[in-house]
Amino acid sequence: MADKVLAGKVALVTGSGAGNGQGSALKLASMGAKVVVNDIRVERAEETAQLIRNAGGEAIVTAGDATNPDDVAAVVRKAEEACGQIDILVNNVGFFGAVKFVDQTYEEWKKDLSINLDAMFLYTKAVLPGMIERKSGKIINISSDAGKTGYPELVSYSAGKHGVVGFTRALAAEMAEHRINVNAVCPGYIETAMHRNFLEGWAKATSSTFEEIEKEALASIPLGSFGKPEYVGNVVGFLASPDADWMTGQALNISGGLETH
Ligand SMILES: NC(=O)c1ccc[n+]([C@@H]2O[C@H](COP(=O)([O-])OP(=O)(O)OC[C@H]3O[C@@H](n4cnc5c(N)ncnc54)[C@H](O)[C@@H]3O)[C@@H](O)[C@H]2O)c1
Repeated sequence: MADKVLAGKVALVTGSGAGNGQGSALKLASMGAKVVVNDIRVERAEETAQLIRNAGGEAIVTAGDATNPDDVAAVVRKAEEACGQIDILVNNVGFFGAVKFVDQTYEEWKKDLSINLDAMFLYTKAVLPGMIERKSGKIINISSDAGKTGYPELVSYSAGKHGVVGFTRALAAEMAEHRINVNAVCPGYIETAMHRNFLEGWAKATSSTFEEIEKEALASIPLGSFGKPEYVGNVVGFLASPDADWMTGQALNISGGLETH
């Protein structure tokens, strides 16, 4: 049991019914945390919870839209009632789709910023009072390589994910006196459903084929392959662990060498 360094801890992972959120939830559970799995689609959350239980871990399921303040309050209430407290929050929910800026509507812009920034704001506000009271907590925000570099056809996403890094740095400075660690993870090209949709949208936006775009994307990655959700989970697991107790305000890249700053 020596590797169960998160035994006794409770972790809430938003959007953990699939992709990077699921990779993070599975990793945290394997480290001994009780995981509050959350997704807008309850059947997905149940799937992740089942995977955790099958592996001998503990999970509870919550459904709710991370951009809806009432849903967020209800999810956190249910989690605290079931588990007592939330020690680790992973703000994973986000959205990226390729669109040329000149074609993007104001409605789309607001929707992108809402899922990439408002969801993080709402969940963080909801869990912080308990963390401040206990003088302990880990907040891990999923940004992107687009949170450090601006990419064409991804203006609103780059704006949102740079915002995630800025939020992380500023909140880390404010929360240090309460011994709450706030860090970000910046993945690049991880094979998930959203990744595939994005490549399809990018092909459409640039009048290319899916195969051409996939080849171009792969060629930009020094280590030569797309990543997997468990790679993101490994970094999240590290940041949630006591090994990262003296780290705050950082934004760690996991991108096969694509992003190096
Ligand atoms: N896949 C990549 O290449 C990549 C790269 C960099 C960053 N990211 C970031 O990783 C995070 C997860 O992306 P992914 O690729 O795993 O996506 P995904 O589509 O595979 O999974 C997202 C999950 O979130 C759920 N979800 C969507 N909207 C929600 C909402 N409003 N409330 C609650 N749950 C909601 C979905 O049902 C789904 O289960 C995002 O923040 C994304 O920006 C992904």
